[in-house]
Amino acid sequence: MLAPEITRHAAAQARWLAVEAGPAAPGAQIAWALTPVRTSFFQAHSRPLADLAEIVKRPDSMASAEPPEAPSRGTPNPPGLWTGARTCQDWEMPNRADALALLEEHTKTDSLRRHGLALEAVMRAAAARDGGDLELWGITGLLHDFDYEGHPEEHPFWGRPVLEGHGYPTEVVLAIQGHANFSGVPRESPMARWLFALDELTGFVMAVAMVQPGRTVSSVRVQSVRKKLKDKAFARSVSREDIAQGTAELGLELDELVQLVVDALTPISSEIGLG
Ligand SMILES: [Fe+2]
Repeated sequence: MLAPEITRHAAAQARWLAVEAGPAAPGAQIAWALTPVRTSFFQAHSRPLADLAEIVKRPDSMASAEPPEAPSRGTPNPPGLWTGARTCQDWEMPNRADALALLEEHTKTDSLRRHGLALEAVMRAAAARDGGDLELWGITGLLHDFDYEGHPEEHPFWGRPVLEGHGYPTEVVLAIQGHANFSGVPRESPMARWLFALDELTGFVMAVAMVQPGRTVSSVRVQSVRKKLKDKAFARSVSREDIAQGTAELGLELDELVQLVVDALTPISSEIGLG
């Protein structure tokens, strides 16, 4: 008997592969599911691979597999970059509590947990601005560095099969891969471009907040952020090049992004160690 959690994730994967394969024969869908990446979650939990095949074959696993519209096809990317409207409610993907648990399982330091929480907040703000799915974008921000502490040399590649095994949609996985320039994964979705643009910038705004009286993030001004960016000695580990590139890819002004970050971090300031 499979644990309910495993069944849930496997069912989510089955639905996802049904979108990928479309009307393909069940046998082909099962073969797709039984690739090393898809089975890593089962192997990690010492489940026989036959269990996954059985779940995929169940009619009820496929019952709600039909997407509201056809997925995009013909992209050079890994399969299934979904560009249609989809929310967390449509797909049985892990929720925010699941994502936080995964982050905390792999990340023990306060600073990196706070970084994840900060990116969650700013990505939700970005989703609100651009009409994205707040929970989906937030979870992407929360988890974007979840494997960094344990696997700094292999980040973000190490985390990819873990995320896929837990049933996170491909757009989440690709956005997280794409936020690392060296991964070679293109940022083709708005969510991916926002994540890249806000990652370093959010860290920088937090660094500026830390030198404000009372570490107050709400008192951070756009002009002071601009000034500090020119000061190479301040927060020197933050890549100014990534901030400039991310802003350019979005086609927005840096000032707007800075204000979005300040406004998004203000309500959670105490959770991320700021005033
Ligand atoms: Fe990050």
